[in-house]
Amino acid sequence: MCGIVGYIGNKKACPILIAGLTSLEYRGYDSAGISTIENDTLSVLKDKGRVKNLKNLSGFNSLQGTVGIAHTRWATHGKPSKINSHPHMDNSKTFSVVHNGIIENFHELRNFLTSKGCTFYSETDTEVIPNLISYYYNEIKGTDASNNIFDFLTAVKRACDKLNGSYAIEVISKDFPNYIITAKKNSPLVIGKGHTENYIASDIPAILEYTKDFYFLEDDEFAVISKDNIKFYNKSLNEISKNFKQISWSPTAINKNGFEDYMLKEIFEQPDSVRNTINSRLTENGKYDFSDLNLSNEYLQTINKIYIVACGTAMHAGLAVKNTFEKLCKITTQVEIASEFRYRNPLIDINTLCIFISQSGETADTLAALDLCKNAGAKTIAITNVLGSSITRMADNYMLTHAGPEIAVASTKAYTAQVTLLTMFSIHLAEILGICDKNLIEDLKYNILCLPDKLQKCLNTNKIIKDFASKTFTEKDIFFLGRGIDYTTAQEGSLKLKEISYIHSEAYPAGELKHGPIALIEPGTTVITIITDESLSAKSVSNAQEVITRGAKTLLITNIELSNNNFDTIINIPKIHPFISSILAIVPLQLLAYHIAKNKNLDVDKPRNLAKSVTVE
Ligand code: G6P
Repeated sequence: MCGIVGYIGNKKACPILIAGLTSLEYRGYDSAGISTIENDTLSVLKDKGRVKNLKNLSGFNSLQGTVGIAHTRWATHGKPSKINSHPHMDNSKTFSVVHNGIIENFHELRNFLTSKGCTFYSETDTEVIPNLISYYYNEIKGTDASNNIFDFLTAVKRACDKLNGSYAIEVISKDFPNYIITAKKNSPLVIGKGHTENYIASDIPAILEYTKDFYFLEDDEFAVISKDNIKFYNKSLNEISKNFKQISWSPTAINKNGFEDYMLKEIFEQPDSVRNTINSRLTENGKYDFSDLNLSNEYLQTINKIYIVACGTAMHAGLAVKNTFEKLCKITTQVEIASEFRYRNPLIDINTLCIFISQSGETADTLAALDLCKNAGAKTIAITNVLGSSITRMADNYMLTHAGPEIAVASTKAYTAQVTLLTMFSIHLAEILGICDKNLIEDLKYNILCLPDKLQKCLNTNKIIKDFASKTFTEKDIFFLGRGIDYTTAQEGSLKLKEISYIHSEAYPAGELKHGPIALIEPGTTVITIITDESLSAKSVSNAQEVITRGAKTLLITNIELSNNNFDTIINIPKIHPFISSILAIVPLQLLAYHIAKNKNLDVDKPRNLAKSVTVE
């Protein structure tokens, strides 16, 4: 989705803005633009295509200003084009604006402004914003010739009052060359505090190189930023104070560290990221510490249902722990896709525990579902990777996965961290409820401690997977089969493949094969089976046999000795308790998606049409 960067200080803004936009490329975008203040006039350079193309635009080298805003656009209203790219200016070229989000009432606002003599040049919803600011600025200013920053702020506030939908905006003005004003509603924005310089971004990694001190703007708040100062205002424009948070991520965490792509780096980071997740909750005596959660034991005893709500890979992490919650805690656990859940009037009461999983903590549908549950009186927990993200501020409680920044669009290390953390939480809950077999709990805890080493062993499948990928990358369809937890792994493996290789793939519960999908199996069709649960292995082998009989080319991912099988290729992974086997079994499938995409010469980190952080519905 769109990305925002801003800089104000003593240095030339342009290189900092370009570097920031480059580090936001992973979010997915189709156009880029930048606006700086040059000797009291506004310069705007923008075009469709890559950030690096901005450097070839005429006028780029003469951008000397020390104040600027910048944007990567992921088209919603209006196709990717120069004119639709941000920043957008008002008709008098006094204000320049970049915007993330969607203005739902932009037609109405456009009509209003057109009736006041305003001309629109783009098809975007955003172009109403600088023109509304300009309209209110002229109204406020009247005949007063003094340049009062409060007039600028008031104009921005009045414009924001008119906007329905979501926005994070940065505004600069030629009349106020020493300021940037920002505002937000339902779209993230962070402000990085420097020394005689300040930074703004939609996402922490864009400015992590310059500062670790971040302010998080809340909805309906405004910030007036100069190089030496940041002032915050609430929606009534009363000044408010805010504390900054220190982000522990190292700037080197957003380098590729010698790997060809972020995705490969992130797959290989999993032994460490899962170790960090475990250590974040493990105490010296081997117990789990969740005492930071504001959930009393009395409350936990009253839970009658658990909803786990998320999108994409995060939703698959929910599926991977559903059975564990039900088996250990004996509480019905439903996993729901956020965009469906929010519109289906789910049954929620004060005894329903609602858990939301989001790597970014900014996914619009997940946030809306969270809001719904809070309004229904349920207690909410967010599982996220990003400190300070919207979800951490909205949920009653949050737990960080500690996976480190994930840059590749296709989520890998976030998934394994989410499953690990939620399994640990389910064990904690089961211990409080006191209804679970202690041996099972101890066994699971031991298995969790083994995860980092076993993940390392899973990475050793890289070579054999690479060979398999080189023989498979021309396929048109690939099927994934599994039962129980292995069906969840199949779903996540299939999603990875679709996302980055653009090969059509489907995941099926192996037992469902005969009810339709087997009709699609032809000689040579690739079918990947996952078998990690001993209790279901004979059944899964039988189902796989049905496709083998029909000539399918088969790959098996397993940690079980299976006699009498006819799979073409077998990948062995370490033994582990089936409740957490998805954490290991997904690794070869992540590698498979990666190598197939590489064989097809695709951009694995930035697959077409996808965005890392989906901040619109
Ligand atoms: C997008 C990303 C996926 C991610 C999903 C949910 O679709 O491309 O990788 O799983 O959003 O994102 P979240 O940040 O909420 O986990």
